[in-house]
Amino acid sequence: DKQGLQVAIDGPASAGKSTVAKIVAQRFHYIYCDTGAMYRAITWKVLQEGVGLGDEAAVKNLLDQITIRFEPGTPVQKVFVDDTEVTLAIRQPDVTNAVSQVSALSAVRTELTERQRQIADAGGIVMDGRDIGSTVLPHAEVKIFLVASVDERAQRRLKDNAAKGINTPLATLKHEIEERDRKDSTRKISPLTQAADAIRLDTTSMSIQEVADRIAEIIQEKESL
Ligand code: CDP
Ligand code: CDP
Repeated sequence: DKQGLQVAIDGPASAGKSTVAKIVAQRFHYIYCDTGAMYRAITWKVLQEGVGLGDEAAVKNLLDQITIRFEPGTPVQKVFVDDTEVTLAIRQPDVTNAVSQVSALSAVRTELTERQRQIADAGGIVMDGRDIGSTVLPHAEVKIFLVASVDERAQRRLKDNAAKGINTPLATLKHEIEERDRKDSTRKISPLTQAADAIRLDTTSMSIQEVADRIAEIIQEKESL
């Protein structure tokens, strides 16, 4: 018997997915799963080991050897690759700029999709990423597609970075976001795309709380069916 719904939240870089997914998960006592962190974790490992970003066999081999785990933490969930904490390391610009290449590899997507489905199996989950509603959880009861203008998203990333002591200029951030969106949207396997049955929310001029409240409303409507 399922304990709660599956909630899929997809969208482009810095649309606010992880921030609102966390709030919504807490509100419903659901598990939160950040699939982007899983793609970042294997990318971190690939950079550590000096494996070629496009070397599919070598990358898959590395992925087969590692466990990617989440542990509760404030303000952010902790991420581990085996016994090494990589929470901060996976947000650094080197990983951010390499992740789209690694996440385009078919063998990587197949393996991580499998792991994500296992995590979501019991229900009561909020999962965010790029292909959750379209590929990972096609039967999710709630599918949200979050968007915001690229200028707004670059501003949000700038603030985020400032808090972490990273000082990348706004124009560079905007360029990086556009580049990542382009790669994520045009890759052959499960590209970033809005599922036909997803609800699109333009968050350009919405606060975090407004977005979270709207999604909570949508979940409550489904739960009461
Ligand atoms: O938080 P941010 O928008 O920067 O990205 P993220 O959610 O941490 O995801 C990092 C990268 O992982 C994305 O740019 C995609 O290349 C990849 N990704 C993916 O391919 N599929 C997912 N379900 C989630 C992330
Ligand atoms: O996970 P994703 O890359 O989609 O975005 P995020 O990391 O959740 O959000 C990026 C930044 O935008 C964070 O600093 C959020 O606090 C901020 N944000 C915002 O200002 N307004 C929103 N409606 C949503 C997020």
